[in-house]
Amino acid sequence: MSRRSTQAILAASLVTASCSQQVLDLSSVKWTVTSPNFTYISVPGKLPSQAHIDLYAAQVIGNPLFGLNDFNLRWIGDSNWTYTSESLNSLSKNSSSTWLLFNGLDTFSSIELCGKHVASTNNQFRQYYFEVSDILSSCQDPVLSINFGSATVIANATANEPGQETWPYSVEGLFEFPNRQFIRKEQNDFGWDWGPAFAPAGPWQPAYVIQLGAWSGYIRNTLIDVYREGQLNLLPPDQSKDWVLNASLDYMGSIPTDVVLNYVLQDSNNATILSGQLSNVTNHNNTITGGVVIPRDAVDLWWPVGMGPQTLYKLSLNVVGNGNSTIASVTKRMGFRTIILNELPISQAQLDQGIAPGNNWHFEINGHEFYAKGSNFIPPDPFWPTVTEARLRQLFESVVDGNQNMLRVWSSGAYSPDFMYDLADEMGIMLWSEFEFGDALYPVDQAFLDNVKEEVFYQVRRVNHHPSLAFWAGGNELENLELYLVNQSAPDQLDRYMAEYETLFLDTIAPIVFGQTRSISYSPSSTSNGWQELNFSLPQPITERYENVTPGSIYGDTDHYDYDSSHSFNFSTYPVGRFANEFGYHSMPSLQTWQQAVDPSDLHFNSSVITLRNHHYPSGGLNTSNYVNGSKGMGEMTIAAQRWYPVPNKRDPLANFSAWCQTTQIFQADYYSSQIQFYRRGSAMPERQLGSLYWQLEDQWQAPTWAGIEYDGRWKVLHYVAKDIYQPVIISPFLNVTSHDFEVWVISDLWSEISASVSLSWYDWSGNKLNVSNPSSAHVRVGAINATQVLSTNTNEILSDYDPANSILVMEVSAQGTRPNSKRTETFTHKNWFHADRLSNAKLVDPGLELSHSNSTSTFTVKATKGVAAWVWLDYPSGAVLNFDANSFWLLTGEEREVGYTVKSDTTGGKWIDGVTVRSLWDNTVP
Ligand SMILES: *[C@@H]1O[C@H](CO)[C@@H](O)[C@H](O)[C@H]1NC(C)=O
Ligand SMILES: *[C@@H]1O[C@H](CO)[C@@H](O)[C@H](O)[C@H]1NC(C)=O
Ligand SMILES: *[C@@H]1O[C@H](CO)[C@@H](O)[C@H](O)[C@H]1NC(C)=O
Ligand SMILES: *[C@@H]1O[C@H](CO)[C@@H](O)[C@H](O)[C@H]1NC(C)=O
Ligand SMILES: *[C@@H]1O[C@H](CO)[C@@H](O)[C@H](O)[C@H]1NC(C)=O
Ligand SMILES: *[C@@H]1O[C@H](CO)[C@@H](O)[C@H](O)[C@H]1NC(C)=O
Repeated sequence: MSRRSTQAILAASLVTASCSQQVLDLSSVKWTVTSPNFTYISVPGKLPSQAHIDLYAAQVIGNPLFGLNDFNLRWIGDSNWTYTSESLNSLSKNSSSTWLLFNGLDTFSSIELCGKHVASTNNQFRQYYFEVSDILSSCQDPVLSINFGSATVIANATANEPGQETWPYSVEGLFEFPNRQFIRKEQNDFGWDWGPAFAPAGPWQPAYVIQLGAWSGYIRNTLIDVYREGQLNLLPPDQSKDWVLNASLDYMGSIPTDVVLNYVLQDSNNATILSGQLSNVTNHNNTITGGVVIPRDAVDLWWPVGMGPQTLYKLSLNVVGNGNSTIASVTKRMGFRTIILNELPISQAQLDQGIAPGNNWHFEINGHEFYAKGSNFIPPDPFWPTVTEARLRQLFESVVDGNQNMLRVWSSGAYSPDFMYDLADEMGIMLWSEFEFGDALYPVDQAFLDNVKEEVFYQVRRVNHHPSLAFWAGGNELENLELYLVNQSAPDQLDRYMAEYETLFLDTIAPIVFGQTRSISYSPSSTSNGWQELNFSLPQPITERYENVTPGSIYGDTDHYDYDSSHSFNFSTYPVGRFANEFGYHSMPSLQTWQQAVDPSDLHFNSSVITLRNHHYPSGGLNTSNYVNGSKGMGEMTIAAQRWYPVPNKRDPLANFSAWCQTTQIFQADYYSSQIQFYRRGSAMPERQLGSLYWQLEDQWQAPTWAGIEYDGRWKVLHYVAKDIYQPVIISPFLNVTSHDFEVWVISDLWSEISASVSLSWYDWSGNKLNVSNPSSAHVRVGAINATQVLSTNTNEILSDYDPANSILVMEVSAQGTRPNSKRTETFTHKNWFHADRLSNAKLVDPGLELSHSNSTSTFTVKATKGVAAWVWLDYPSGAVLNFDANSFWLLTGEEREVGYTVKSDTTGGKWIDGVTVRSLWDNTVP
């Protein structure tokens, strides 16, 4: 509490409020970056920024993402970096109070103004604000300087403090810089298996100097919580109730206690829907809070993409003092929706429908179950200040184009900026959000817990008004991995570490979430068996289930990685759960992407630079020549590619490298597609599976990773294949690889029944029709978010007259149905392909692909003139980023397909069109 707000309580009724405030945006002043370690370095700085960014801009260092600079630039992370402003001469001498406001400092900083120490900070994820009126009043030269300590040095020093906590086993130790679990900094800055380790430092978020007149306040954070009357987190609300809107404004400065809080709610045309005063207004501890009931019929609902409109409203909140003067105001764009994670026990009604006992684990939007389709989002760059809204918009357009409706914003990165939630609000992408803890157990000393409390309190309040906020999880892979590993390595100590885990994720974080919002569900770990008991009359309502499971019952969500590619495509190796929140396998990026990051001499599969950029498996420390771990990951990709597809063996070394990269991508996409179809069919199975989010949406550098979108936005095979298989209605083959029992299913995630026509035709690779004895057509109905079997047979029997290596089944479905919240009947079609033997054995023929481009329609046309073409791939040169409407599809002999495209960026002046090529899997069989 500032000294002035103490006076405010005494003097409120005597003073007429004034609104005067002056805001200096610290991005508008000149900064210099120096280091106490290297006195010869002095470069211009920016804000927001990090030292690596400014050193690169000044050409003191090369591109951090090039070659092995990940290793070469460790000296930056191991040093202090000081950001010093020019003299802030525009500051007023007459204000009543002056404040520094930092929305984020990465991470350990010592702040000085006018040569005087203001404060020190130690949490990248907190907002910090300091009153500096006294310092400024006696200051000749108002220079602000922020000295950032080395996070790697401080993490080590903290770990080595006497009495510091240790753990029997932690995945954390497998990565580059150690000890990140002791510090509140983006955890992947110290290394992850899909990214580099730079440990950057700097003022990574906007910062301001705020000057206020008497009785004036500056709103630094806002909480808006909207829920149905009576709603409790994690429980389905009554959708017939009115809305409760709670608003809470955190301010700096002095605002009289007896203020009024007015609100205006406007629709997207700026028409006022409702306005008035909030009730129950309080003003204490520099927070003004009030609430209002919004009649349910006054507003329209916000829906995720594909489920209805993304209706948004503008909420203005005005703090009004004596004499009707506005003291402070804030406007937020928000929406009306309920979203919960339903982990309730399976009901009798659900059992009667054939759902297996246990507990639910799925999301419900506005009272409806839905199938969550999407992927996991990682920090799109090792340096967050370079991530602009334009860049995220391009990425999110690919999310929507890819038929995805939910992203799991993986913890251990950074809390998402508001502009990311804003884009998701507009585009209808649900953001499963997480507190930034992952793959480690954390200290529980009071100082650490207090630091976390501030972080969680600030972040929960900051983003709660966004309708795209879908969920809060405590952290990544904690119960299913970290506690599991403790139990494996030191079972006698499990109780102690589980108690510490609960201290942080249940006793500390959960009450803050539930204390701030009634509208968002929380679970301590991304993957878990869910809660066993939920009791909101307790200070901490959640009792976790852990392994207290009943055999035959199904609980929780799944996380699945299996790098033994002999298991791939074998459904019995996939987990059966209610929701798949992570699964995957890595692949190479394209040749074009590698060309951005390595020298031409490194463009071959066994290049040491490429191997060392493969952080799967992570290096295990700071060793810069651990080829063994990188080679293991390279081996997994090549073994999988050879096991399942024709081996590329091109004479031209670059073409051969490119073909190998491509084949690893095909395996990846094929494997994910098989898993996604298995999970989606699970909506009709006892597990009632209602979500698949694959690992991972996008890359943060150019390297072999699990991503579907490369660093510059280029789609890998995976993103195209996921787009295809995430369509609302699909037709899917399921082969039991042991018994050769074979089934075909139609799967729909529409919210009402569809009626579908199916056709099934067998061909050989030349395109001749085979006379296989199974029905060639069927009509079926598929229920809401469900699946229907259309064929059940055995390939050994039906293909007894044919060579499986020369037999392919084309499956097509055409269905009439309506999208959720739409009355319009649409036709949904999908085509899928099944090969009875693995493609490495297939009797591929030259499909005689022909490619043409039409300037008038801006489309390419691909035709297979001689045979069946598998995995047809349109490739385009570097210099542009675009996505084709479809890619990596199959063509029957004589079939042609017109393919449109969307250009995202182009530095070739349109010349990329002349560089587009087409190939199919057959090309790998010719040198
Ligand atoms: C930079 O200076 C700090 C503080 O003296 C020291 O801990 C750190 O090791 C130095 N870093 C390098 C790279 O010399
Ligand atoms: C490095 O930064 C830390 C954190 O701000 C500070 O405590 C320390 O004094 C700094 N060291 C030097 C040499 O500037
Ligand atoms: C931190 O500790 C690790 C392992 O103990 C060591 O390899 C590394 O050099 C240390 N880092 C710094 C910056 O002192
Ligand atoms: C609504 O008002 C904002 C500014 O207050 C303006 O930028 C926007 O164009 C207006 N929208 C419409 C639809 O009039
Ligand atoms: C007052 O607000 C601060 C920061 O917003 C918070 O840390 C503190 O717990 C609050 N105190 C009370 C008594 O609510
Ligand atoms: C105001 O407070 C009263 C008493 O606690 C409560 O019944 C009412 O629901 C509150 N109104 C709003 C809009 O929150």
